[in-house]
Amino acid sequence: MKVDVLLGLQWGDEGKGKVVDVLTPGYDLITRFQGGPNAGHTLEFEGNKFVLRSIPSGIFQGDKVNIIGNGVVLDPALFKAEVDALEVSGHPLTDRLKISKKAHLILPTHRLLDAAYESSKGSSKIGTTGKGIGPAYTDKVSRNGIRVGDILHNFDEKYKTAITRHEEILKQYHFEYDLPALEKSWFEGLECIKRFELIDSEHVINDALRNDKRILAEGAQGTMLDIDFGSYPFVTSSNTVCAGACTGLGIAPRNIGEVYGIFKAYCTRVGSGPFPSELFDEKGDEMRKIGFEFGSVTGRPRRCGWIDLVALKYAVMINGVSRLIMMKSDVLDQFETINACVAYKINGKETERFPYDLSEGAEPVYVELPGWKTDMSQMVSEDEFPEEFNAYLNFLEEELEVPIHIVSVGPDRDQTILRYQEN
Ligand code: GDP
Ligand code: IMO
Ligand code: MG
Repeated sequence: MKVDVLLGLQWGDEGKGKVVDVLTPGYDLITRFQGGPNAGHTLEFEGNKFVLRSIPSGIFQGDKVNIIGNGVVLDPALFKAEVDALEVSGHPLTDRLKISKKAHLILPTHRLLDAAYESSKGSSKIGTTGKGIGPAYTDKVSRNGIRVGDILHNFDEKYKTAITRHEEILKQYHFEYDLPALEKSWFEGLECIKRFELIDSEHVINDALRNDKRILAEGAQGTMLDIDFGSYPFVTSSNTVCAGACTGLGIAPRNIGEVYGIFKAYCTRVGSGPFPSELFDEKGDEMRKIGFEFGSVTGRPRRCGWIDLVALKYAVMINGVSRLIMMKSDVLDQFETINACVAYKINGKETERFPYDLSEGAEPVYVELPGWKTDMSQMVSEDEFPEEFNAYLNFLEEELEVPIHIVSVGPDRDQTILRYQEN
């Protein structure tokens, strides 16, 4: 068996949580391989709505094993809040959730550093989620991080050393804070982590592969936020692309199976940074309103625009996407016409190639397609799709050269249409 990977192809919030939940019955193990509580993955079913941050989205379907992999950064306080909320709503996790000993901890001072760095950048700030993601990964890479496995060995000394170092930096930024207030919930969270099995996840996952178990890797953020290939520096601090699943779980590239690339029928972005097909008119407002485009973690309004095929083709290439999933088709139900960005005009020259630096100004070149003007939200089969919607799907498949396997027509688990027979 191989590991199938599901990841976002745009700037995050494509609907990964919903689809992981839908696909979970076909898998034995669901794993997160990067990111942390900057993610907000929404699932809706049977009238309930949940937003997951660090816990994989396979947690609601039977007794599947869910693993937080080594590539993730984990904030104990936010993790405990997530666990508590799930347990209160009748979803005990202890036996179904395991945590890699090699995952890194987000310390309370990482959050403070995130805020200090952002405010020092002024108008060129990244617009981070403020969860300490960048500083935690910085410490990991500079070999100063503290891992989940350290909770069991000499933890106090490692914690003190790290906090002292962070406080020295915070002093330079003249940043005011109340550390004890943050530490209270952080240490309660640390106790919560100890309730779970802390594992050598790379061994567990490779053993599962040898035993023919089916594994799904759930990405966070999206390809345009990848630290190497996204719109740098307006990106997150991890590899959100398919290769990140190899390093974030400890699996060999040849053990990657299907790569599910997920995108919205349009495009959104939250935080700062270039977004060539962004709309500043009433059409963008309409997308935001109908699609309820507000951050699941921060509540910030998401910037909205037309689908960007230059960026999507690039994302398909970098990830080796084998199956596409199109989300939020219903949001465009009442649009008279739909635009798709097929090229950028940069310094007067048209190109279909994703450039080195988007912020130097890329003007979108659009083709216009007819809208379908039909409520698709109650449809259950592709046989019901309006002609214009089929034309949009065909157009995207031709452009992206990958089949669209799943179409989502609403936030609920049931509002999902499979187009090709899964094997
Ligand atoms: P993720 O971070 O990729 O898991 O996505 P988010 O959960 O942050 O954002 C996706 C939002 O769209 C959530 O509020 C979902 O409930 C919602 N959603 C997912 N699929 C659909 C869909 O097909 N139609 C509509 N209208 N909403 C959807
Ligand atoms: P999910 O998994 C959308 C964005 C932030 C900011 C940039 C860096 O729900 O799709 P960070 O806190 O990671 O240092 O912020 O990345 N960002 C996301 N945008 N969805 C996410 O996750 C995001 N996680 C981070 O808004 O622009
Ligand atoms: Mg999200």
